[in-house]
Amino acid sequence: MPDILLLSGSPSANSRSEAVLHHAAGLLPRQGFTTPFVSVRDLPPEDLVLTKFDSPQLKQIQAQVAQADGILISAPVYKASYPGVFKALLDLLDQDALTGKVILPMATGGTLAHLLAIDFAMKPVLSVMGATHILKGIYILSAQIQFDADGKLQLEAEIEERLQAGIQSLVEAVNS
Ligand SMILES: Cc1cc2nc3c(=O)[nH]c(=O)nc-3n(C[C@H](O)[C@H](O)[C@H](O)COP(=O)(O)O)c2cc1C
Repeated sequence: MPDILLLSGSPSANSRSEAVLHHAAGLLPRQGFTTPFVSVRDLPPEDLVLTKFDSPQLKQIQAQVAQADGILISAPVYKASYPGVFKALLDLLDQDALTGKVILPMATGGTLAHLLAIDFAMKPVLSVMGATHILKGIYILSAQIQFDADGKLQLEAEIEERLQAGIQSLVEAVNS
């Protein structure tokens, strides 16, 4: 069964970009994929900051990345880019860790001014790590990410449509 890794780049405990990530994963065909989840928060902060290549948790993440056929990434925009801790995690992966993986990048940001953070900041790094099949990114404004009284994610129809289209492209690419 193909494996689509869910990769969260947010250091926040109550993360909107991570909520979107799980929601998007829920749009995958029910029986078709395994969907392991990895967050920058899975790695002890010291291992992340001090670039500990011998970290046991890192070994596990490296194995999960190696196993993946596709990767669904979601990260917040920080300073017109993605969080430094996410870059710290990418720095701990092998130089060619993303070779042969289909990648769907997503980002949430406070302003539309940083809409191109996916293309200008995230994609070049994914490319240098070997990714050659990076799908059109999905950018969502934080203000468009709402939760109801039960904590359930509420998204506008237009965002749902973009997520559906992105997930469909990911599924087609992984299965081709
Ligand atoms: C340190 C920091 C820097 C941020 N910088 C930007 C920015 O440059 N542009 C932007 O659109 N949003 C910026 N934001 C807002 C976040 O991108 C936005 O709230 C995002 O949805 C948070 O996602 P998260 O809950 O998954 O962390 C920043 C937020 C923080 C905490």
